[in-house]
Amino acid sequence: MSQIEFMDEHGSFRIEQPQNISYLYFPIAGEHAGGAAGIKSSLTPLLSGDAKKDQNTFLLEPVSAENLHNNRSTRNFWCRFTDGQKGKAWSASGVSAEQEAERGTEFEEQTELLAGFMWQTVRRQSRKYGLSSEITSFVPVEYPDTEAMLVTIKNTGSEACNFVPIAAIPMYARSADNIRDHRHVTSLLHRTKTSDYGVEITPTLTFDERGHKKNRITYYVYGAGEGGVPPVGTVPAVEDFIGEGGSFTHPEAVYGELNLSPVGTYLDGYETVGALVFPECCLQAGEKATFFLCMGIDNTKEIQSLFREDWQAAFEKTKQYWREQVNVRFHTKDKREDSYLCWVAFQPLLRRIYGCSFLPHHDYGKGGRGWRDLWQDCLSLLLMNPGGVREMLLSNFGGVRMDGSNATIIGANPGEFVADRNNITRVWMDHGFWPLHTTNFYIQQTGDIGLLWEEAGYFKDAQAARGTKKDVLWEDSCGTKQKSRDGAVYSGTVLEHILIQNLTAFYDVGEHNRIRLRGADWNDALDMAAERGESVAFTYAYAGNLGTLCELLKEAKRCGTEKIWLAMELEALLMGREPLYKEIEAKQKLLSDYCESVLHHCSGIKKEYQTDWLITVLHGMEQWLKDTLRQEEWLGGCNAPGFFNGYYDNSGRRVEQNEAGHIRMMLTSQVFAVMSGTAEEEQIAELIKAADAYLYKEELGGYCLNTDFGEVKEDLGRMFGFAYGQKENGAVFSHMAVMFGNALYQRGFAKEGYRALHTLCHQAEDVSRSRIYPGIPEYFNDRGRGMYHYLTGAASWYLMTELTEMFGIKGRFGDLVLEPKLVAEQFDESGHASAELVFAGRKLKIVYCLADMEDSKETEARENAEVCRQDSLRVLSVTVHGKQKGSRIPRTEIESWDINEQHEIRAVLVKCVK
Ligand code: G1P
Repeated sequence: MSQIEFMDEHGSFRIEQPQNISYLYFPIAGEHAGGAAGIKSSLTPLLSGDAKKDQNTFLLEPVSAENLHNNRSTRNFWCRFTDGQKGKAWSASGVSAEQEAERGTEFEEQTELLAGFMWQTVRRQSRKYGLSSEITSFVPVEYPDTEAMLVTIKNTGSEACNFVPIAAIPMYARSADNIRDHRHVTSLLHRTKTSDYGVEITPTLTFDERGHKKNRITYYVYGAGEGGVPPVGTVPAVEDFIGEGGSFTHPEAVYGELNLSPVGTYLDGYETVGALVFPECCLQAGEKATFFLCMGIDNTKEIQSLFREDWQAAFEKTKQYWREQVNVRFHTKDKREDSYLCWVAFQPLLRRIYGCSFLPHHDYGKGGRGWRDLWQDCLSLLLMNPGGVREMLLSNFGGVRMDGSNATIIGANPGEFVADRNNITRVWMDHGFWPLHTTNFYIQQTGDIGLLWEEAGYFKDAQAARGTKKDVLWEDSCGTKQKSRDGAVYSGTVLEHILIQNLTAFYDVGEHNRIRLRGADWNDALDMAAERGESVAFTYAYAGNLGTLCELLKEAKRCGTEKIWLAMELEALLMGREPLYKEIEAKQKLLSDYCESVLHHCSGIKKEYQTDWLITVLHGMEQWLKDTLRQEEWLGGCNAPGFFNGYYDNSGRRVEQNEAGHIRMMLTSQVFAVMSGTAEEEQIAELIKAADAYLYKEELGGYCLNTDFGEVKEDLGRMFGFAYGQKENGAVFSHMAVMFGNALYQRGFAKEGYRALHTLCHQAEDVSRSRIYPGIPEYFNDRGRGMYHYLTGAASWYLMTELTEMFGIKGRFGDLVLEPKLVAEQFDESGHASAELVFAGRKLKIVYCLADMEDSKETEARENAEVCRQDSLRVLSVTVHGKQKGSRIPRTEIESWDINEQHEIRAVLVKCVK
């Protein structure tokens, strides 16, 4: 199996014979100015896949992974031979019955695929017919609702070749819902028209979840030859194109009789194909002909003008646009891994456009992102394009309810949240954790602590008391904003929102005094323990949040904020003290009283608190939680390494086990125990040993999510119904594996953190095992195949960890701090490793140089041995613009540097001696 070869510093790559790897797909999409997504396509090496704008607007038939090899409805381009070879044809995209039958024989065609951000080119050579093709797919940056195909056919033989070129792109033109819901009936809505450049469908009505509505959307497939020469005719009805008994891989219109419909033909109520027939081509040896196809949605007029433009220029512009979006780059000894990281950095942009749906494995959802994804995707935005993040964060806070839960139906526009009319409401208990995590990162990167004092509204619908009650007084006309008793829309500071989320979680405990699991936590598939389940994993996480809040408030105090105003109702959540923390029923009652106080209206009255006092309260809660968890949830084995328990099931039993012959271990529990600062250093060292013994599978990409429980644990979640080693049941699930790496780095375990990340990347890189294009997939299955490629929160976390932990380039209340934790093998032969990024609006290149160990001030390093673990590094000197600096460079200074230049910061490093 051929491997990926990188072609430039932007991650553009090539691979040979990609059609011999199943389930490969590549994303290309468009984006409107202002950020709204355009067309979203997926393409296989044989140009299968689909194209859509949203759930109800699919241009090409929706596909799931299994359709990728099953579906004959691909984007095809035929050469129908005339003269001597009459009756024969060649598919320039490789999709004919003849080519399929040639697989593995001497006639199998040679192909190569080249790809970069949002473009794909497939080259194919037919020795049999002496022709080659090159098909480039992209979404022109100025026409974001159009997928373009640039097709070049070349005569590579020694004789002249005559053929009729025929593009054939089956059009679906309706809602994804209709794939098995009135598929035929909805074709009766089709009104097809043939125009100058091709075929258009404007269905009369739409039949989908919105009901029967008048349709206003036009779908089209247009094309032209060089000089904008239009097709001579079309064959718009699928049944005419394929012929009786024919198929898209052996169509009648290509192999048999060809009856053209002229411009201006109307066809009502039939399945349609964008079959465009171009004037006959006569290519002498070595000559080529180029065609330009556009398939898309609306904008029919503008698109036709595209045929007079320079197609190649449109392609170059598109490439340039997407390259500029990725402005983080790494240079280490491993050049391949550096190129891979270009794709990891690109993935968060894909998730912004595709949401969590719309690629073949992601055959669920309707394009939206979940609450936790919304917040985590901001992490990478903060690194690459921090411009609009403040507004985005603020508008996202508008989705928090006053009971600490949040809107789960997220609208298409920022800050748009939809009321949940569902009778069975799910409350994901981890949702309250992410906003503070992201907000803290924002404040550290930008120094904008003022965000905490910005005001935002609260979301309101009928769901109340964290999904346990209904607000019977609420109706649609009340709107989706929380109001106070006087009827005014209530708003509170960002800090107030964060406090509500974290304090309500603190009190929302089950029978073991851990936070209740409710509908699930990060692991969506832990969804069968709503009554008695508890997530200790996220109890650790919330404990960590309380500590983060204290840090932020201390900084606020340092900046002069002595007093803080909060909604009066919050007093109940702040007045409890330690003896109460132990009393489960009292805690539940306190929470329930609080929820009652904001069930329909809130008072609208605010109360003042001293910042210091608030810090003391939060610190007390944090310490109590961490101490308790550390003592009570640690599963020490007699002769085996210990680890943390992370769950209680619906039968009230502890889930993880550490007894000889009975090991049940979950990675999530370890991640949050470490990341939150609950686990002590010795415990971390031990739990790494346990994770290595029970969860680490190098040949599958590293740390698996859990051990095999060997039972369908109906009292915990559907994950146990999945085969072991798949998805949320024990796969190497990238998101958690990366978070494990991040947590280890944060706590100074650099070597181990590096291993977690590197093993994952290494797995992805080896195509013979991962069978994916560059990037990090959601998970690797039990055979090591990369699954659910591209749309995963793991990418954001990977990028953040690489930059802020591995390279240690991070903000501290807005200043730039250098705290590298690179390991020896990451430095190149000359002892260098560098990263390029934008910080404080300036382009920076941080170059780390390893000092010659002979010269290093060993004594000084030894003095620091206590704070540095293992292989960690110490910054000896920092130089910018020829001047010496400390390893913390004030933001104000960076902001005084030229905005157009790249500034090199050189840091000399010395290894710490343990
Ligand atoms: C996906 C979901 C994420 C969820 C996770 C585990 O993860 O998007 O919300 O927490 O599965 O169930 P992803 O691969 O996007 O990181």
